[in-house]
Amino acid sequence: MPTRAPSTAAPTPVRDPSGAPAADTWTLSSRTVHLNHGSFGAVPTVVSEYQSALVAEMNSIPGDWFTALPGRVGAARAHIAAFLGAPTEATALVPNASAGVSVVLNALDLPAGAEILLTDHAYGAVHMAAERAARRVGGRVRVAPVELDAAADDATRAVVDAIDDRTALVIVDQITSATARLLPVGAIAIECRRRGVPVLVDAAHAPGMLARPLEDNAADYWVGNLHKWGCAPRGTAALVASERVADGLHPLIDSWGAPDPYPVRFDTQGTIDLSSYLAAPRSLDLIEELFGWDAARRYMGDLADYAEDVIAGAIESLTGERATVDVGMPVPAMRLLALPAGLATTPAGAHELRDRVAALGFQTAMTSWRGTGYLRLSAHVYNVAAEYDRFAQVAVPHIVALARET
Ligand SMILES: Cc1ncc(COP(=O)(O)O)c(C=O)c1O
Repeated sequence: MPTRAPSTAAPTPVRDPSGAPAADTWTLSSRTVHLNHGSFGAVPTVVSEYQSALVAEMNSIPGDWFTALPGRVGAARAHIAAFLGAPTEATALVPNASAGVSVVLNALDLPAGAEILLTDHAYGAVHMAAERAARRVGGRVRVAPVELDAAADDATRAVVDAIDDRTALVIVDQITSATARLLPVGAIAIECRRRGVPVLVDAAHAPGMLARPLEDNAADYWVGNLHKWGCAPRGTAALVASERVADGLHPLIDSWGAPDPYPVRFDTQGTIDLSSYLAAPRSLDLIEELFGWDAARRYMGDLADYAEDVIAGAIESLTGERATVDVGMPVPAMRLLALPAGLATTPAGAHELRDRVAALGFQTAMTSWRGTGYLRLSAHVYNVAAEYDRFAQVAVPHIVALARET
């Protein structure tokens, strides 16, 4: 059956100032098509080389390296804070968003029976971390359902109305993982503050994807990965804390920085390879120099629109089922499409489907949310429209055939 023609124009592929395709900036394998930037990011080649040079420097005179390291981490931290629009004195570096969440959960003095409130869009590993923290005090996690298509007001109400006397922390995602949508974290944090409940914003996907990720930040704690949309070496993340709570935060590795104030105490992490932190500013600068962050974000959004159009069109014309999804508050560089009925109805099913599609030569994220399977598409500057065309032509018929077998 023919696929419907896309109505969204394919954006012109991005080139660097020398005229080379943007993809030449990365060394991603040509054996597969990379449509899942969101999960693990991708590091530009020159930044990987810079990080390798840093490691060589560390290995050549370790004494000099480790003596100077806290100062260099502090300088990288200031650079990253400026990129995010956060005050340097509020920003600590941690290895990843998961570590940032652990730092916050360790710092909280949860009363017996405390509840941690999160939404049914929360990242699975964060949900589990919250469960462990609550269990230690005989408490539990409570889940506030937020409809997939909820607009900002409805989403805010869904979270805030679920707060009760036992709520000791609210964790809310700025950009959700399984459902690729924004949540109104600014409004939610204001309402929580009014009720005296601290808020942790899981902003794992925000740095690089959003121009001003902290623009309306009113949360006590915010953590965002630089190694996703910022293309920094893994793992590098920023934890931004309000003045009210910052002094209670300590790094997961308790080292010689312990007597230092927040966030300087996070700059000293014992004998460990922190080359990723030092190299992260290079990625942020490189994208600006080669493509310009604003232009890059515009391209990602246009390409994501195209990808959604062409792939939803392919699914719909083969199944007659609607593949486009209203996510209420869409994000610039990811799109959520409904998979044909019967596929990825559980997380295990989603993983199995992802692996089958990977075997066809496509890296994707398949998610399962409220028993429905979704394809989450990412678009970064190194992606081009032809890759999504190929997915529509090669992978979609295969996926539809799998659905017919279920
Ligand atoms: C919303 C969200 N939170 C947390 C994480 C965890 O990030 P990391 O594995 O870098 O700790 C992710 C990763 O994809 C995520 O999407």
